[in-house]
Amino acid sequence: MSANMDPEFWDGVSRNLVRYGGAFDPVIIERAAGSHIYDADGRAILDFTSGQMSALLGHGHPKVVAAVQNQMGQAAHLFSGMLSWPVVNLAKRLARLAPGLDRVLLLSTGAESNEAAIRMAKLVTGRHEIVAFSKSWHGMTGAAASATYSAGRKGYGPSAVGSLTIPAPNSYRPRFRTPEGEMDWQAELDDAFELVDAQSVGSLAAFIAEPILSSGGILELPKGYLAALRAKCHERGMLLILDEAQTGLGRTGDMFAYQRDGITPDILTLSKTIGAGLPLAAMMTTPEIEDRAHEKGFLFYTTHVSDPLPAAVGLAVIDVVEEEGLVQRARDLGARLREGLDALKQRYDCVGDVRGRGMLVGVEIVSDRRDRLADHETGGRIAEEALRRGLSMNIVKLPGMGGVFRLAPPLTISEADLEHGLGIMAQAIEAVRTST
Ligand SMILES: Cc1ncc(COP(=O)(O)O)c(C=O)c1O
Repeated sequence: MSANMDPEFWDGVSRNLVRYGGAFDPVIIERAAGSHIYDADGRAILDFTSGQMSALLGHGHPKVVAAVQNQMGQAAHLFSGMLSWPVVNLAKRLARLAPGLDRVLLLSTGAESNEAAIRMAKLVTGRHEIVAFSKSWHGMTGAAASATYSAGRKGYGPSAVGSLTIPAPNSYRPRFRTPEGEMDWQAELDDAFELVDAQSVGSLAAFIAEPILSSGGILELPKGYLAALRAKCHERGMLLILDEAQTGLGRTGDMFAYQRDGITPDILTLSKTIGAGLPLAAMMTTPEIEDRAHEKGFLFYTTHVSDPLPAAVGLAVIDVVEEEGLVQRARDLGARLREGLDALKQRYDCVGDVRGRGMLVGVEIVSDRRDRLADHETGGRIAEEALRRGLSMNIVKLPGMGGVFRLAPPLTISEADLEHGLGIMAQAIEAVRTST
């Protein structure tokens, strides 16, 4: 019997764990190293999603391990009103990477960073309405969940008063087309803001957006969209908050995804990738906004704000990203990943679309290419086959969307492992295709 089926383990799961999302994978994970996780049979599983889209440097990078060990021996956690060098040094490093966003608040999770961003936007604008995309994911806490539309809205009572939404442009299923048949995102944005203006009670505080909507199925905002969105916000006195939980720190081939578009948001939130698997998040903003917030008594006092241990990890992560040239590597490996996936699209009809940027790529599974019909079931079966063959991939199964694989391998993955993963994907698709 496989050690992954240990009845004592699964009995403990069913008796003692809260089920907080989809089904658990049928494996018991014992350790993780580099681009692999290892199950109870000692089998290596290639991790094509960097854990929960976070382990940017793979698992257990020696510099991160050393930073944790060293800082743990110095100071891990302090009274929230006390500061230490790792916190100030990380704030300086982040500010250098995101010119204009000089003021940094260090927190623990993505949801928390978005709470802080939304709270600050409400305070400085004196308004309360928050707009987000209808396929967004910003987290599971109050304000973040109110701005999350891709899942989890039903059954929890009212979301925040003043929560508004617009559709995100979807290049695979455009709502608006130019006379030439191309996606017309400008017409879509204009139309969406007419709806925003119609719904608003005159208290628009901010728009919160992911530059590439990840949980929404890897929907990339086309070049020019962010600048146009920023203009729409500023015309209305709203702030633009960008949530780069998944896209930050090199994953897309730029240090931050917004930098491709030559704009700067009013507020930037970072999480997942800056801790590379450990709980670290940041909210960054301009001195003008931070000064205004401070004058108005901005309060965001949490247990783990400005903790030295995660800050030391953040510094180590940035060091590795810079020393190992991982921003460029995301471009280079991303191009190879894209090429391999495009080849799968040529070969298999069920691969409807391949999209994304750098090392954040979506593969949409459809049952009918012409009508672009979503096929969650086939996607789910491909994921199961891949896991059986030693590849972990993350699939989005949301109503109204195809099964979309979100591929986000560590930026440190070897070319051989990347090819190996592509090979397993092909085998998994082939196996599902021949079994139907
Ligand atoms: C874009 C984005 N923002 C925020 C979050 C929430 O982060 P956390 O789960 O760390 O609270 C996520 C999590 O998946 C995310 O993808």
